[in-house]
Amino acid sequence: MKLLKDRILTEAKVMPGNILNVGSFLNQQVDIGLFNEIGKEFARRFVGKKVTRILTIEASGIGIACITAQYFNNVPVVFARKHRAKNIAGNVYSVGVTSFTMGVDYSVIVSKDYLRPEDSVLLIDDFLANGHALEGLAILTRNAGATLIGAGVVIEKGFQSGGSRLRDKNILIESLAVIESMSPEQGIRFRES
Ligand code: G4P
Repeated sequence: MKLLKDRILTEAKVMPGNILNVGSFLNQQVDIGLFNEIGKEFARRFVGKKVTRILTIEASGIGIACITAQYFNNVPVVFARKHRAKNIAGNVYSVGVTSFTMGVDYSVIVSKDYLRPEDSVLLIDDFLANGHALEGLAILTRNAGATLIGAGVVIEKGFQSGGSRLRDKNILIESLAVIESMSPEQGIRFRES
């Protein structure tokens, strides 16, 4: 998606630890015009697929998912919460996730009321790095007995393992910008689509 790649090239900063800072338009501050184009592009890439729920994870996925839902007939957006405690009880689906990017273990939790066996679920998130957050959402979807349509990702760090691991599990992933390599010295290179 050229508009997105241009924004990354002009505004993103490569930080220590292979972190891409896109706070000016995707994370701390969000560009709603760009989000609308992102939502339209996800709709184009998943055209013809029946989607009844968009599932994301707090925090940065929520805004993108909400704007995107407007291009999927205003389907409900469900967001999974992250809790450090592992012993969650009650009427929820829960799966443990280890984040290498964040260096923490957490549980990804969603209410059983909002994810049902008859649902067709599209996952949406801002980044795909090692992929454990998205994998957690895929497991929750499976545990609910729902159908996983695929995942829409804004920025995939193609040099990390998440994308290939999830595609090997037959999850359809559409990433709007795939970074092949990045460094403060060499800058950012995208994978050709
Ligand atoms: P992991 O397996 O190492 O945890 O990687 P994963 O792909 O699941 O990404 C974990 C979290 O780290 C995600 O946040 C993702 O947005 C964030 N992240 C990964 N790489 C980068 C990066 O280069 N830049 C930025 N800005 N974020 C990155 P999340 O679980 O969706 O939570 P939140 O950050 O939205 O609260």
